[in-house]
Amino acid sequence: MLAGKHILLIVSGGIAAYKALELIRLLRAEGASVTCALSRAAAQFVTPLSLQALSENRVYSDLFSLTDESEMGHIQLSRAADLLVVAPASADLLARMAAGLADDLAATLLLATDKKVLVAPAMNVRMWLHPATQENMAKLVARGIAVVGPEEGPMACNEFGPGRLAEPPAILEAIRALLEKEGKLAGKHVLVTSGPTHEPIDPVRYIANRSSGRQGHAIAAALAGLGARVTLVSGPVALPDPIGVSVRKVETAEQMLAACKAALPADAAVMAAAVADWRVADVAVQKIKKGSEAKAPTLTLVPNPDILAALSEPGALRPKLVVGFAAETENVVQHAQEKRMRKGCDWIVANDVSPASGVMGGEENLVHLITAEGVEHWPRLPKTEVARRLAERIAEALL
Ligand code: C5P
Repeated sequence: MLAGKHILLIVSGGIAAYKALELIRLLRAEGASVTCALSRAAAQFVTPLSLQALSENRVYSDLFSLTDESEMGHIQLSRAADLLVVAPASADLLARMAAGLADDLAATLLLATDKKVLVAPAMNVRMWLHPATQENMAKLVARGIAVVGPEEGPMACNEFGPGRLAEPPAILEAIRALLEKEGKLAGKHVLVTSGPTHEPIDPVRYIANRSSGRQGHAIAAALAGLGARVTLVSGPVALPDPIGVSVRKVETAEQMLAACKAALPADAAVMAAAVADWRVADVAVQKIKKGSEAKAPTLTLVPNPDILAALSEPGALRPKLVVGFAAETENVVQHAQEKRMRKGCDWIVANDVSPASGVMGGEENLVHLITAEGVEHWPRLPKTEVARRLAERIAEALL
């Protein structure tokens, strides 16, 4: 909950500005109050009236308006806030922030504040990848500004790539991570694995799987949001590092196991990675030549270590709570219950990935939580919401 927190939401010009409305709704539902300020260009994309109706607060846009200055000047506006959030953050506003300009109300508020600032960039993919924007972002990050997104996907300009505004629930999660440092999991260390593993065949080829890392990364973010110190051991993913989480990047299952062991002790471990079951026995040192078709190489596979089972083994370093995942297409609950016994973990989050569920690769998840006490059937929920509920349950279990 964000009850009693006050967010100064700065909206800059861009097609994604309409998503600021949904963000305001989510923040209000969490108990936060929101005041909006617009950049010069923002009012071309979203009306001050809609922002005002949803925030139930006056919307500020004019640096030189006398009433703004007399009723609540720009210094006062940022002083009253617990956090400044820029969503969407356009390439132009990010550049002005990096340069320390104060040429409109939005830039002035950002220069005049000593509060924590979170930016959610949104722009065309080439604007995002342009060295100018990347250098500006590096400067802002070095100054301690927090970033959420951008995400990769189809864009309003008919292109594809990084540049889409992070979805409002992900921005909310980032806000929680910044404001709820004194949360229920303060003082606890939680280890999370996420993403696929890549098992090399030779220096240029590897065996992989389709895991996006979305669920595991969302869990890491949600745990950090409750104040936990989170170590995220991640296979190769196309996702930004969650805010406030220490990330260890690995490629293979063996590296993942080593990184997990190195991260212990932990109070809880959540193993959401899709670890490859096998790796190639003899990885070729040089690229394997194609040769003639008759001589297609045969790959001999050997089993990978089971990280979940290894961390569940009794011992001084066993986390108090070990949570595994089980992606099943049939007899979901029964298979997951068997897996819980076989692996020796405490809970299994059983995931219905049958084609009929539509969960694979999607934003939503349909899970059952299997514990020693029994089975809980959760409704179909966004992956961020599954993460939040799981983090809450972990917090209760560690009390
Ligand atoms: O055996 P299966 O792959 O279905 O089990 C899934 C669970 O086990 C997940 O929590 C996954 O992270 C974990 N796992 C692991 N190491 C492996 C294989 C799976 O930690 N080698």
